[in-house]
Amino acid sequence: MRLTVVGTGYVGLVTGACFAEMGLTVTCVDIDEAKVAALRRGEIPIHEPGLEPLVKSNVAEGRLSFSTSLAEAMQNSSIHFIAVGTPPDDDGSADLSHVLAVARDIGRNLERYAVIVDKSTVPVGTADRVRQTIQAELDARGVDIEFDVVSNPEFLKEGAAVEDFMKPDRIIIGTDSERAAEKMRQLYAPFNRNHQRTLFMGVRDAEMTKYAANAMLATKISFINEIAVLCDRLGVDVENVRRGIGSDQRIGYHFIYPGCGYGGSCFPKDVKALVRTAHESGVEPTLLQAVEARNQAQRRLLFDKIVERFGADLSGLHFAVWGLAFKPGTDDMREASSRVLIEALTSAGASVCAYDPVAMWVARREFAEDLFADGRLQLAENQYDALDGADAMVLVTEWKPFRFPDFGQMKRRMRRPVIFDGRNQYDPRMVKEEGFEYAGIGRR
Ligand SMILES: NC(=O)c1ccc[n+]([C@@H]2O[C@H](COP(=O)([O-])OP(=O)(O)OC[C@H]3O[C@@H](n4cnc5c(N)ncnc54)[C@H](O)[C@@H]3O)[C@@H](O)[C@H]2O)c1
Repeated sequence: MRLTVVGTGYVGLVTGACFAEMGLTVTCVDIDEAKVAALRRGEIPIHEPGLEPLVKSNVAEGRLSFSTSLAEAMQNSSIHFIAVGTPPDDDGSADLSHVLAVARDIGRNLERYAVIVDKSTVPVGTADRVRQTIQAELDARGVDIEFDVVSNPEFLKEGAAVEDFMKPDRIIIGTDSERAAEKMRQLYAPFNRNHQRTLFMGVRDAEMTKYAANAMLATKISFINEIAVLCDRLGVDVENVRRGIGSDQRIGYHFIYPGCGYGGSCFPKDVKALVRTAHESGVEPTLLQAVEARNQAQRRLLFDKIVERFGADLSGLHFAVWGLAFKPGTDDMREASSRVLIEALTSAGASVCAYDPVAMWVARREFAEDLFADGRLQLAENQYDALDGADAMVLVTEWKPFRFPDFGQMKRRMRRPVIFDGRNQYDPRMVKEEGFEYAGIGRR
């Protein structure tokens, strides 16, 4: 079986590499010529554990290749995955321009029956739009070719993407075509050897399932974050509360870690898009709006705590920031809480020196050039260099090497021994014994 995967980002590249690893022949297509050229040279454009060896070995075996030409890639394949970005539009809705551009391109080049698979996260009704877009191109060409559009949303987590793809909790296939369902069954058979993980459902059901999953996870995070803010006011330690409720099997420990807000390329945009879908459908999404509002406030919380401690004018103060990626295990800084913090600190007159184990090159690209030029933002070579002369260290991303730092060295290098712990990584009592002033999220 041969596949085309359009889009070589976190989802497309992982999808292509993992299917190739299962013996399929995969062409990954991207309009970004530089990215395709880099991939052809064997350079992996993203940090994702296990991805590099997988890509390299499958390229070497001739099962995985990269192209900028969808027309060429489609020639030999009968399943075409759409895995391009769906960023938020100005009104919060998912911007489908990339998805529909690929659909048009598929319609222009389709020569025989194929299954087109929406793997991008797209609102309910998008598969219909993709179908209409392809059909319009076929009509314009005056040809009659059958095809099916399937929804197969992706649930991988950045930082564990390869493992998640190889051992998924579930594979959602939305289709009402038996022919397409059979093809998808064959395609995913290697992932279902011991357990039947595939759930077949309607196309719209599958589209909604993805949004509901992300909205549920975002809701859990915003819930515990709101409880943490309340704990702060009431002199309660939210970490005890977290353990206390997590031990209830109906609640569980997952996704109830208090912190400085969720980020990344999925939760923020998907919650916003679902809010937009609700409004368009005449439903008032009170819960989802509250989830989003709590997250906005939470992303400002570290800055608010810093202002509470140092005053509104931060001129002349210098802060060390540990962690830039939106979570550990990835170099993705889309909607990262570090961005909100660094932009707020530098706007209030402070300077910042930041360090992240893998996202430094992304930070160099993402932050405004003038922040670097006038020295308001510096990037350090390692976590301890970032601390030199700092009035406080702010932990934003809970990378493992930050968990048990050398407190003695920290104290020697910082101007003041103050820690703002945005992910509740430290035991407040222990940190205080080390001579630090400490503020976490909802810690007594
Ligand atoms: N990143 C995740 O963790 C994750 C998880 C599950 C689902 N998703 C969803 O998967 C989709 C892709 O996300 P991502 O993080 O991989 O995006 P990404 O931004 O990392 O990659 C998208 C790629 O698509 C390419 N592209 C855009 N238009 C194109 C076109 N017309 N033809 C060919 N290539 C084109 C871009 O150049 C880019 O390389 C989104 O809908 C996202 O919501 C993402």
